[in-house]
Amino acid sequence: MTKTTSATKTMPDTRHPLDPLSEAEITLACDLLKKQKKLSASTRFAFVQLEEPVKADVLTWGPGKPLPRAAAATVFDTKTGRVHVGIVDLDKKAVTSWLEHPAKQHPYGQPPVIIEEFFKVGDIVKADAGWRKAMKRRGLTEKDIELVQVDPFSSGYFDREIEKGRRLVTAVSYWRSDIKDNGYAHPIEGVVATVDLIEEKVIELVDEKEIIPIPKTKRNYNRAAYPNTRKDIKPLDIVQAAGPSFTVDGWQVRWQNWSFRVGFSAREGLVLNQIGIRDGKKQRPIMYRASITEMVVPYADPTANHYWKSAFDAGEYGLGKLANALELGCDCLGHIHYFDVPVADDYGVPTVMKNAICLHEEDYGVLWKHYEFRNDTFEVRRSRRLVISSFATVGNYDYGFYWYFYQDGSIQHEVKLTGIIQTAAVAPGSGYPWGGMVAEGLGGPTHQHFFNARLDMMVDGAKNTVTEHEFIPRPWGRDNPHGNVFDTTSRVLARERDAAREADGRTGRFWKISNTNVKNSVGNAPAYKLAASASPLMLAQEGCSMRSRGGFATKHLWVTKYDPAERYASGNFPNQHAGGDGLPKFIAQNRAIENENIVVWHTFGATHFCRPEDFPVMPVETAGFMLKPNGFFAENPAMDLPPDKNAASVTGADGTGGGSCCS
Ligand code: NI
Repeated sequence: MTKTTSATKTMPDTRHPLDPLSEAEITLACDLLKKQKKLSASTRFAFVQLEEPVKADVLTWGPGKPLPRAAAATVFDTKTGRVHVGIVDLDKKAVTSWLEHPAKQHPYGQPPVIIEEFFKVGDIVKADAGWRKAMKRRGLTEKDIELVQVDPFSSGYFDREIEKGRRLVTAVSYWRSDIKDNGYAHPIEGVVATVDLIEEKVIELVDEKEIIPIPKTKRNYNRAAYPNTRKDIKPLDIVQAAGPSFTVDGWQVRWQNWSFRVGFSAREGLVLNQIGIRDGKKQRPIMYRASITEMVVPYADPTANHYWKSAFDAGEYGLGKLANALELGCDCLGHIHYFDVPVADDYGVPTVMKNAICLHEEDYGVLWKHYEFRNDTFEVRRSRRLVISSFATVGNYDYGFYWYFYQDGSIQHEVKLTGIIQTAAVAPGSGYPWGGMVAEGLGGPTHQHFFNARLDMMVDGAKNTVTEHEFIPRPWGRDNPHGNVFDTTSRVLARERDAAREADGRTGRFWKISNTNVKNSVGNAPAYKLAASASPLMLAQEGCSMRSRGGFATKHLWVTKYDPAERYASGNFPNQHAGGDGLPKFIAQNRAIENENIVVWHTFGATHFCRPEDFPVMPVETAGFMLKPNGFFAENPAMDLPPDKNAASVTGADGTGGGSCCS
């Protein structure tokens, strides 16, 4: 503890108030909590992250004017199940808030499943006599049982007495021929163990009478499983001999006109703060903070192993806690800057996630081009984008979260979905009605993936307005004599309840976030457009548990008045929560949102009908959205790109012709 005290003293007061907690701060926060709250040895730290100062203070902050640093920790006692959220003032070295979360009372809610429990559950389940009997009924030997992979899944909530106020996971099992074998190729159907993590025992076991044979064909994806790789690939090297065009100073990133600060939280993973762009001599803010605060993956198979599956991977596990160390030359190409991120482990001890965030540049084809054949004017500019990304592996699935910044002022977010699908054993000769067959005896349950981006907007200032626009055909008439006219409608979303909206591709519906206190070059409010993709919404029925717990996935757009307490689309404790928290609850207040300090929340995702090509590892599927300047700039902001040829490009099979294809 003495070590950390001295480390905090040496912290420069020029540290930005939104910088993630340092290792020393994590140690200090956890040690202060352990000491001042007399935490027992059985206490675990589910989340430890920066308690961000209020927005107004951050916006007036300057170097040399330090703001108090604080950490927030969600802790629980593995012996009693009691849950607390503590706030630690790191300057005063004091616990300033210590609130018990009523986990045993309706509407319940538990801290996320922690890594220690991932391992503990296997032992608990394998020690259960009923589960062992169920395995033996399915022909497993003692040796087989040793090799069984037990997956602890968040249990969901179904209003059953047995689950109320308890800390649970639901475990499904997979046969493996050896420790390296891909268990998802061999699901053990009809056996489901519900585990009380505090009592450390199986409290309910489903062992279905009908036995579905375990598919035993090996389906591995490691390099040993594919020794004959294709031979016709030559190296494709991205060489940046003069270095990258971005600069990184601590957590601050600058690239051409763009600037932002990198943040990170145990729950959300990658966070971007204070995104702005330089426009001539002006530095213009666009977003105060952007992150993915929640996701949910509801499954559409009603059988014992699947109907309850609806992972909320941010709130039930932690996208930051499960972030990957990205490896040079594998996940990204070119000149890469990695950010190492300090996080707390389950015991309140800091560890550094090496290379958790990757920053690099990519060529992105043509940005703009015109050939004027009348006078032979030919101009083309290639697009380049700045990419900042992080990957999280949550059980079987892997999710990459990518933010792209473009030279034309656009911002894109893209989630890359990959990893291994959930699988179901299918009896020989019978079909699989709840999804697609991916291999012999193996089905993939149909499911949906929803993500929610929390976009704390500040287009040209703190007060913004959201408007909805669509294109509506005008009826034939005197004002439409040729029938070709269609109108562009706009309306202000003035109150929170009006602003829970769905996308509509037929009318091209879109939303603009504008600042009506400022005028653009043509006398209108400068704006950014949220371009939502044709994205599904939650298909589970009204009243279904996953729908009431994942209410954020029932609309594409939500707008709330800024409240620092409203941070997560599914509320603070989605794990085993009875439902109704998060965005539907926030907007029930129906606050005024016109020309206010607002947060835009965008739900997007994909419905996944599994196919053989998704196995043994699925190729990346993407989901996401764009934010595009809309009357924000006075002209195409990429007109000033230099018309340089790419000298390294060659043409012809012998590689002798020089220069890029155009210009
Ligand atoms: Ni999927």
